[in-house]
Amino acid sequence: MTELKVPSHVAIILDGNGRWAAKRGLPRKLGHKAGCEALEQIVEDAARLGIKVLSIYAFSTENWKRTKEEVGALMQLFRYYIPRLRKRCFEGNIKVETIGDMSLFDEDLIRGINELKRDTRDFSRMTFVLGLNYGARDEIRRAVVRLAEQVKAGTLEPEAITEQMISQNLDTAVLKYPDPDLLIRTSGEQRLSNFMLWQCAYTEMYFPELLWPDFKKADLVRAIEIYNGRDRRYGGRNEADNGK
Ligand code: IPE
Ligand code: IPE
Ligand code: MG
Repeated sequence: MTELKVPSHVAIILDGNGRWAAKRGLPRKLGHKAGCEALEQIVEDAARLGIKVLSIYAFSTENWKRTKEEVGALMQLFRYYIPRLRKRCFEGNIKVETIGDMSLFDEDLIRGINELKRDTRDFSRMTFVLGLNYGARDEIRRAVVRLAEQVKAGTLEPEAITEQMISQNLDTAVLKYPDPDLLIRTSGEQRLSNFMLWQCAYTEMYFPELLWPDFKKADLVRAIEIYNGRDRRYGGRNEADNGK
């Protein structure tokens, strides 16, 4: 078998925690707990496989619409997982970044996450990106505001705005590999739900039926195999036609 080409940037919309819990007659928060455990393992597996950036959609700008109880349980889980994630990152040489507007989170949570980012900033094996209060439309809106401010200040001509400048003003600008090569969404749903709308212009997508807490290393390897079977054309000609 020829060696698998590992995508540099893999993004995951982890979905199905609630259904996983419902199937077992458990409260949704236990589904989220199981989801966090699956995530902890996948972070390590992804680094071992040689993935350079692993981006995870953990909490969307729309997830505030859930019950107060569920939002509270998710925030508690984030708190609980920071020290565990820290240990994993230190052991695995993994750097943490976030995308999204964390300012709506409680202060202690913001502090904990910022400390984790600061303390892992020199780690280089993999970057683990957490989407926290992330929404692509909100991210694009914030980028537009920044560019509009430069136009207002007279330092930027509207016509001089390039696609690259827009990319550089998105939250993902801090990443070495900005656009995901492969996006996985579990639970069989086939939509982006406001995740990386700009960055996924040419991303390969894969939608396994598995619920997120059941997603294991073998499923990540399967996703990479499927990715290897794709022909990325970027609007150009088919690889098979080359030279004809
Ligand atoms: C994904 O699981 C986790 C978050 C959105 C935080 P869900 O909570 O969306 O699970 P389902 O879709 O209800 O099964
Ligand atoms: C997307 O999942 C958000 C996250 C995984 C954080 P949702 O479960 O919230 O999305 P919809 O409502 O099914 O589109
Ligand atoms: Mg869901």
